[in-house]
Amino acid sequence: MKIFIDSAKLDEIEHAYSSGIIDGVTTNPSLIKKAVEDLKKKGQEIDMRQYIESILRTAKGTPVSIEVTEYNYQGMVEQGKSLFRMFNPIANNVCIKIPVNTSFEAEHGREFEGIRAVKTLSAAGIPVNCTLIFTPEQALLAAKAGASFVSPFAGRIDDSIRKESGVIFSKSDYFPAEGIRNGKGMLDDNGIVSGIDLVRQIADIFRKQGIKSEVLAASLRNARQVREAALAGAHIATLPVDVIKELLSNRKTQEGMKSFTADIIPEYADLAKER
Ligand code: E4P
Repeated sequence: MKIFIDSAKLDEIEHAYSSGIIDGVTTNPSLIKKAVEDLKKKGQEIDMRQYIESILRTAKGTPVSIEVTEYNYQGMVEQGKSLFRMFNPIANNVCIKIPVNTSFEAEHGREFEGIRAVKTLSAAGIPVNCTLIFTPEQALLAAKAGASFVSPFAGRIDDSIRKESGVIFSKSDYFPAEGIRNGKGMLDDNGIVSGIDLVRQIADIFRKQGIKSEVLAASLRNARQVREAALAGAHIATLPVDVIKELLSNRKTQEGMKSFTADIIPEYADLAKER
């Protein structure tokens, strides 16, 4: 499973890439807002164009998702093409992120705008990450429209199930992949018992239907969910930098480090100094 960093903060992206195990970057308007607010707090002015170019150079050789800000078909297609034209020459790694459905409410009638934009941009040879996926049906249509990546938002499904059932939680709390039962039975969101269940169902469908789009598990907030996303068949997990660090952390590893370093004898340490 590939690991992407879910961030628009250049310092975090550079730090994560220094590990040598990062396969891509995902951004969204909220992550861009956070990154820019942080820089402004530090008194730094930001040139958005140069900033994005720096992210693309840092991630050279791996895809970077940049989300559109328009929400009608024409606007998304024009913006997607223009972002691609503007930024892809920098490091040949731009992927345009399009919401699967840009309606704010059902009655707004923009149900087909997102999927049409995915289809048009993909057909024009622009890699698309279809985002805000909350059902296997949305994933199926995103893939049918030609999306290179399909992004189920696992953590937000867990949030929604917990909110509906009145469970008090904080964002990074672990939510069991197999779901939670209350007195009335298994809690669910439209037949999905957890965010990881959504990832699993999409990965199963893609495998059974021979679909080539990659399942990009998004909105993962802790290391155990990453393990479960891998078990569920996700091709990619996109993670905040702290979750990437958490993947490597274990108290017993720290204890082992303490005892091994305490036992290093000079005769042994000196071996490494011999050239
Ligand atoms: C993915 O592309 C999104 O940027 C992200 O994973 C959303 O995560 P959140 O639900 O923790 O905001």
